[in-house]
Amino acid sequence: MNLVVALDGPSASGKSTIAHILAKRLGLVHVDTGAMYRAVTLLCFKRGVDPKDEKKACELLKDADIKLTIDDKVILNGEDVTKEIRNKYVSDNVSYIASYKTVRLFLVEQQRKLADNLSIVMDGRDIGTYVLPEADVKIYQVASVETRAQRRYKENQEKGISTSYEEVLENLKKRDYIDSHRDFAPLKPAKDSIILDTSNLTIEQVVDECERIIKEKVKERNENIG
Ligand code: DC
Repeated sequence: MNLVVALDGPSASGKSTIAHILAKRLGLVHVDTGAMYRAVTLLCFKRGVDPKDEKKACELLKDADIKLTIDDKVILNGEDVTKEIRNKYVSDNVSYIASYKTVRLFLVEQQRKLADNLSIVMDGRDIGTYVLPEADVKIYQVASVETRAQRRYKENQEKGISTSYEEVLENLKKRDYIDSHRDFAPLKPAKDSIILDTSNLTIEQVVDECERIIKEKVKERNENIG
């Protein structure tokens, strides 16, 4: 039987890192849905379309072939854009793209197909509430905006991306606001999510706690079936 884990939470709460390690540990496929919204934003950049222009941005979808590989690479129209989708232009504009219903419906359809036949951990903002409401396990990861900014700033430094802490903090605050105030599938925990505050936890501790939650849920599920 497939296992479907939904991992949601605000920007830079560490979802992708956690989902990646969890997937390896538990033999699941990791689907990073944020990467898909980022790929559409990058396509705007490549085609000279303003991401705030909803009509033009949505027209690009017919040319958007986005693939996520098993080793977490993001392929846009045959090109490996794994690194490019993390650049500042994309981070600054992705929330506009993610607020368009047409974009969301286009990507959600693909996300649901991926979950059809695979045991997965899918991370995003609306996985537990909208994309996969029947997921076996729903975890909603939170951390203060300052903690998240600090983590993202450190990560950027390690990658050689030169953005100040203040810029990172402002970007996160702006994205939190847009993500949680959009009309369609906004960022919020599902009623049956388990809230996990990671502010004072290391990556290892968060992964351990997620693993414990998942195993407990699977045990409950198996007992109910049996
Ligand atoms: O997780 P991330 O930072 O790579 O996500 C990029 C943006 O995409 C973020 O601003 C919110 C949006 N997003 C979303 O609206 N729904 C998802 N399921 C995943 C991401």
